[in-house]
Order: sequence, then structure tokens, then C-alpha cells
Amino acid sequence: MESGRLSSTEKALIRESWQKVSSNLLQHGIVLFTRLFDLDPDLLPLFQYNCRQFSSPLECLSSPEFLDHIRKVMLVIDAAVTHLENLSSLEEYLTNLGKKHQAVGVKVDSFSAVGESLLFMLEKCLSTAFSSDVREAWTKLYGAVVKAMSRGWDARKEGE
Ligand code: HEM
Repeated sequence: MESGRLSSTEKALIRESWQKVSSNLLQHGIVLFTRLFDLDPDLLPLFQYNCRQFSSPLECLSSPEFLDHIRKVMLVIDAAVTHLENLSSLEEYLTNLGKKHQAVGVKVDSFSAVGESLLFMLEKCLSTAFSSDVREAWTKLYGAVVKAMSRGWDARKEGE
């Protein structure tokens, strides 16, 4: 996976900024997904547990299964931060994760709203420490994660 584009300064900025987020992953994940449903309410029906559909983002955000999904997302980002020096070791996992998302009806395009929501959450968490350099570094890292996940959609098409 493309990690060469992240300079050592950018990696340091990512690690430093993630420290504050990782002190409470769930709390910050809730900020991320609240923003995501604001940006794209049509994503709500994709989350169904025991065939039950949520009638509002608030209802979704208070379900234990959905909170588990938030934790899962935050742990994947945490893994990317931990593996900044060796992002390619996550490539296969992320491609498979992409396949799973394709199977549940997620479109690759929806990941841009997730990226915006990630930056929104980081800005809320870091306040003035969220500099344009920090934003740029996170945009690159998130781009690498999405690139690897999006191979899951390509791989499916090839396998059909
Ligand atoms: C458009 C946004 C997204 C939607 C609609 C979505 C939807 C889903 C759904 C419906 C599931 C299966 C049920 C569940 O495990 O809760 C799932 C699983 C999962 N999602 Fe997402 N997801 C999104 C974004 C992400 C992102 C950005 C990540 C990580 C970077 C992620 C990580 C995971 C993980 C780790 C699982 C569990 C996969 C497994 O069972 O092995 N999701 N997602």
C-alpha cells in the first residue's frame, strides 16, 4: 500500500494527533458518525441488525450493534496509525474489508463522506492544533486506506 507519500513529519503529526482521539475512541467515533449521517442520511438504511431498520440516526447511534461498528471503524484507523511504517501489511485485510462493505451495499463513493467526517471529528477534537499540515497528513492516510478497501469492489467485479 502507498505509504511512501507520507513524510516522516506527516507520520509524526498523525501519531501525535491520534493520541488525543485514542484516549476515547468510541466518543470520537460517535462524533464522526453523527456528522456522517448529517452529510449522507441515506447511509442509515445500510445498518440493519436482526433485519431491524432504524427510523432515525439517533436511534441508530444508541444501538449496541451500531456502537460496535463505530468501535470497529476506529480500531481500523488505529491499526493504520500503528502501522504507518508498514501500511502494506494491512492491504489484504483492507481489501477484504472492502469486499464485505460491497456485499452489504456500500458504494465506494460513500467513503468520501466518511473522510470528511473523519476530518470534522479530528478538528473538533484537536481544535487549534488541527493545522493544515495535520489535515493534509490525515487526508493522505485516509486516502491510502480507501484505496486499499476499494480494491474489494474491483476484486469482486473480476471474480464475477
Ligand atoms: C459508508 C460507511 C460505512 C457503512 C455504511 C458501513 C456498514 C457496515 C455494515 C452494515 C457492516 C456489517 C455489520 C456490522 O459489523 O456492524 C460493517 C462491518 C464492518 N465495518 Fe463498516 N461501514 C462503513 C464504513 C466503514 C469504515 C470506514 C470502516 C473502517 C475503516 C469500517 C469497518 C468495518 C469493520 C471492521 C466491519 C466488520 C467486518 C467483519 O465482520 O469482519 N466500516 N460495516
